[in-house]
Amino acid sequence: MNLAKVKLFALIGDPVDQSLSPAMHNAAFRALGLNCAYVALRVPERFLPDAIGGIRALGMAGFNVTTPHKIGIVGLLDELDESASLVGAVNTVKNDRGKLIGFNTDGEGALRALKGKIGPIKRKEVVLLGAGGAAHAIAFSLASAGARLTIANRTVPKARAFASTIEQKLGINVEVISLARAKLTEALKNADALINATSVGMYPRADQTLVSASMMHRGLIVNDIVYRPLLTRLLREARRAGGRTIDGLGMLVHQGALAFEIWTGKRAPIKVMDSAAKRQLRGESM
Ligand SMILES: NC(=O)c1ccc[n+]([C@@H]2O[C@H](COP(=O)([O-])OP(=O)(O)OC[C@H]3O[C@@H](n4cnc5c(N)ncnc54)[C@H](OP(=O)(O)O)[C@@H]3O)[C@@H](O)[C@H]2O)c1
Repeated sequence: MNLAKVKLFALIGDPVDQSLSPAMHNAAFRALGLNCAYVALRVPERFLPDAIGGIRALGMAGFNVTTPHKIGIVGLLDELDESASLVGAVNTVKNDRGKLIGFNTDGEGALRALKGKIGPIKRKEVVLLGAGGAAHAIAFSLASAGARLTIANRTVPKARAFASTIEQKLGINVEVISLARAKLTEALKNADALINATSVGMYPRADQTLVSASMMHRGLIVNDIVYRPLLTRLLREARRAGGRTIDGLGMLVHQGALAFEIWTGKRAPIKVMDSAAKRQLRGESM
């Protein structure tokens, strides 16, 4: 690597020290022989405008954005592409000759992971657990692709407000239910896929799940976007029920691959990125 000419990429967020993105992107840059490097930078919320000024001044080539800045960054950029303006949040920024352009690859990343198992999304019945940041991005992508969507959330009014935003922007009807067992069981009867976009089941509460095997049917595709642990309780329940599973690295690797393609214009080496993320996760559990 020629460090005097290196193109610099980063992740900004708080915290960032557990992120898998540096491992994924640096492995991809190495695999394609690109003179690029990716670092994780902790940016406390009050410093976000300064950090963006710094990125402009240093001429960094691009960056990812994570919690808590995905919404706050919107007003600090020069342009948003369609994916980011639809969701109202940004996870990827490209520095295009001084112009900072925001994208959102989270939803499309989740969609690509799902398509790998389910095929075309149009008219598929999908139950989405959660109405937080990740659920927003996923729901907009699913609705745009023509899925029939039911959103189930602990705080029902939050999910209703979110569903009506989707309905207004896309003109698509979205069902909203609570997490009550009977409601979820009913919704899952006809579902093709279930996606968990809540933090339930995430380490250290890895024994928790909102849906158990008895509520699922054989053939249901179950995607948990939680990836610590990789094999969550929800995915174990899905396997017991005879369902097919997609773990949280599906979305993570695909959103990273899309960001890589936006920055470099080259096809992302998905397998290399997936292996790098898995290697880091395995290292953590040793
Ligand atoms: N694989 C990936 O690429 C990827 C990407 C982004 C995020 N994630 C993971 O996705 C999860 C959600 O992230 P986020 O950014 O969307 O978080 P967020 O904005 O804080 O939203 C959290 C969601 O989880 C729900 N929730 C939290 N605790 C709950 C509980 N005890 N019972 C029921 N519902 C509960 C919340 O419900 P209320 O609305 O009722 O509070 C909300 O819907 C995290 O685990 C994160 O690591 C994965």
